[in-house]
Amino acid sequence: MEEKGASFEKAMEELEEAHGKDFLFEDGRVLGSMCTKPMDGSVDVHCKFIESNLGNPGLYPGTKQLEERILSMVSSLLHGNDFHGQVQAGGTESNIVAAWVARNVSGKNEVVYCENAHFSMLKACDVLRMKPVEVGLNENFEMDVGEVEDKITDDTAIVVASAGSTELGAIDPIEQLSDICGDKTFLHVDASFGGFVIPFLEELGYPTRPFDFQLDGVSSLVLDGHKMGMSTIPSSVFLLRKEEDLRSIAVESPYLTSLHSTSLLGTRSSAGVAALYFAIRTLGREGYREIVKKCMENTMYLASEVKRIGLGVPIEPVMNICGILVDDPAKVREELDGKNWKVSMSRHPDCLRVVVMPHVTRQVIDSFVRDLEDVSGG
Ligand SMILES: Cc1ncc(COP(=O)(O)O)c(C=O)c1O
Repeated sequence: MEEKGASFEKAMEELEEAHGKDFLFEDGRVLGSMCTKPMDGSVDVHCKFIESNLGNPGLYPGTKQLEERILSMVSSLLHGNDFHGQVQAGGTESNIVAAWVARNVSGKNEVVYCENAHFSMLKACDVLRMKPVEVGLNENFEMDVGEVEDKITDDTAIVVASAGSTELGAIDPIEQLSDICGDKTFLHVDASFGGFVIPFLEELGYPTRPFDFQLDGVSSLVLDGHKMGMSTIPSSVFLLRKEEDLRSIAVESPYLTSLHSTSLLGTRSSAGVAALYFAIRTLGREGYREIVKKCMENTMYLASEVKRIGLGVPIEPVMNICGILVDDPAKVREELDGKNWKVSMSRHPDCLRVVVMPHVTRQVIDSFVRDLEDVSGG
């Protein structure tokens, strides 16, 4: 650190330079991200609430009220009767908190998750010193329910299912998992990506399956505002069926305005809370349905274009993620990178993966498919 601060102009020049190196969603080259450009207006709201810290809620009763309203609105979208939980910093935080709560409530130590679950579950096991118990996939790249039954033991604290897997957007058979877990085993649904998609898929007539609190065995669920929630980073909504479960992670917080802290983080960035409130209030179900409709039409278009150039898809897209089967995915990805396309990969199966977020328009798809055909010899 320099003794004397730089001038405003100098610091801004350095920041502009750094910003210029970053990829922006509006450039239309980012095809592997589960985030997108936050909706108009949410960034202004985010900045307005930049001082709020829900880690010390007594100072921010207005922001706290917004958080409670988000929990209530999202809970009603997901067939929850009541609302308990928190707006957190993302799927990773919420998945760690789910495992933490389950461990403390049950006094048990094993985490049953699927091999295509988000890697945050491994972080959760490591941080909490819980034992990871991995189960395999069925032919649709969903959690193998039979194997779950075999691997649940007297020491199982939590079963984690995905509603919209990171890799292919697959939805695990949560109805069956709910029956298996019942009221004996904590069942957490990671709907970080799918939570703002699946309710609208259903309304648009796409085939889907139950994944939320309408299933009695679902104990907790996360959905991310900074993914298909169309809001700013950071925001995830962590919902719990039972309020008392959250108390299992409470610690005394004597120097704050609340007696107990029940969050993983201390100081909590709360601008994302206000921005997500804005997104949910202004979009409403109708707005989200329109966004999902467009993304799904573009996803189906991408899948059909992929087939037209002689390539395959591992599964028909379940939501707005499309796997692409090519001979040497790592090499094709590198060549696409050379053409400035930022595509990612799936491991199950080994293939390319495009997340068809709102910034991935039909024009973008046409231009991408031309380059894909070139590099893959499709
Ligand atoms: C299914 C799923 N869960 C959790 C996460 C982690 O979310 P975050 O990066 O917001 O912590 C992701 C991220 O892509 C995800 O796809």
